[in-house]
Amino acid sequence: MTKQSSLTLQIKTELPELAKGEAVAVCVFEGEPNLSNASGAVLKTVESVMRAGEFKGEDETSLLLHDAELRGALLLLGLGQHQTINTATLLRAAGTAARQARASRVKHLYFILPDINDRERIACAVAEGAVLGLYDGNFYQNREEPLPRLERLTLITTDASDALRAATERGRIIAESVNWTRALADEPGGTLPPIEFARRAAEMAEEFSLRVETLDADEIKARGMGGLWGVGKGSDNPPALIVVRYEPEGVEGVNEDDELWAFVGKGITFDTGGISIKHGLDMYEMKSDMAGGAAVLGALRAIAQLKLKRRVIGLVPSAENMPSGKAIKPGDVVKTLAGYTIEVVDTDAEGRLVLSDGLAYAKQLKASRIVDLATLTGSIIVALGSHRAGLFSNDDEWAKRVEEAAMRAGEPAWRMPVGDDYKKPIESAIADFKNYGGRPDATAAALLLSKFAGSTPWVHLDIAGTSWLDDARPFAPKGSTGAGVRTLVELVSES
Ligand code: BES
Ligand code: ZN
Ligand code: MN
Repeated sequence: MTKQSSLTLQIKTELPELAKGEAVAVCVFEGEPNLSNASGAVLKTVESVMRAGEFKGEDETSLLLHDAELRGALLLLGLGQHQTINTATLLRAAGTAARQARASRVKHLYFILPDINDRERIACAVAEGAVLGLYDGNFYQNREEPLPRLERLTLITTDASDALRAATERGRIIAESVNWTRALADEPGGTLPPIEFARRAAEMAEEFSLRVETLDADEIKARGMGGLWGVGKGSDNPPALIVVRYEPEGVEGVNEDDELWAFVGKGITFDTGGISIKHGLDMYEMKSDMAGGAAVLGALRAIAQLKLKRRVIGLVPSAENMPSGKAIKPGDVVKTLAGYTIEVVDTDAEGRLVLSDGLAYAKQLKASRIVDLATLTGSIIVALGSHRAGLFSNDDEWAKRVEEAAMRAGEPAWRMPVGDDYKKPIESAIADFKNYGGRPDATAAALLLSKFAGSTPWVHLDIAGTSWLDDARPFAPKGSTGAGVRTLVELVSES
């Protein structure tokens, strides 16, 4: 189920007098009230509140005030030190503003854009952050009295050019695709088996004129995708390989023989661990073990709308990892599409098995560069928490491009090593590789994937930590975050 926001976005060059049901949000920097771009009564209030020490402007803080002189409400948003502001800071602040405004039954929010460089980026991030902030995953709640909608967001800035309008529209398109991704990843495993996941992908593809093709269980077997089949065969819900293509027809400057980029996303619709079953605590979170796959689809959804100049193919190997009499057993060996054999030491290390076939298939389809996204390991959460994705690569130049795109998108990633000096955990006595061999597992998993990427420039983003929020934050509810969509869109936009 999806609920789309229908926030109206506007730009104005002056803040009008506020009416009932309206509020104005202003960004406040630590120790620097005059950077907010505010003037008149708003600036006066910001200065007096800061002088009194009631609000310091620290990152991720906010204060809602009812000001008699302003009539409507004033929302102060802390951005922290001026020098440390990045896209992520702005996205969070705008998200907080939209959520707080809605909670306070505000219908129309004015947002004074801060006076920091690159207006277009800021306008894009604020529109994006607001739409992201309005997401809720409570599709199954019978609410007696739903909150009234925040209907309108008006950005206040001295420049109301077409370029600025286009930037806010870009922010909205991207955020709506991130929210579409979140809705999929928040959907319970019971209502989103691989076939249904594929149906949702096809529905989206149709809406945005993308080409889509799904390989069913028979084809997966027939083509020799033993990794994907091995993981999927234990479930009553058969596996599927979803393939979505964006061919920028009619977009100037793109030729048929141009580079083809492949985005590959892990699509485990529920991960019980299989025969190596997980303990029950927090197992329900494994409904979002297809977050990487959903992010790949969400990115294509945005890329198609933005008509970006790059041929892109999205691949989502999807399966349900279940124990049963038909399930793969620890010690079994699978033969993958690439020809390599893998000993399945632990059936809970299933992501690398389905991705090995996803990567091999991307190469068969002649991808010249690859990025994969996966909720792959608990190990990356130990290393980086939920603040940064783990970035692994076989190509320094490609790694740098993805890392920089991630940073610009407000989804920072941290480069981790991958190389044969770490090969011990994937060495098998009976097969080419094994799928698990102890610590450090995030690196071992990445090293195994690198064998399937071969010499094609490849980046692997382990989003196990960044794709899920354990607790609600001021800018987001508990649950999936849509991590990776913005990075992929930014990466394709750059080219
Ligand atoms: N899907 C999990 C990784 C994961 C864990 C994602 C926590 C999000 C939150 C993956 O398939 C998995 O089960 N990994 C195991 C592998 C191990 C048992 C071999 C892990 O990391 O614990
Ligand atoms: Zn998994
Ligand atoms: Mn697992």
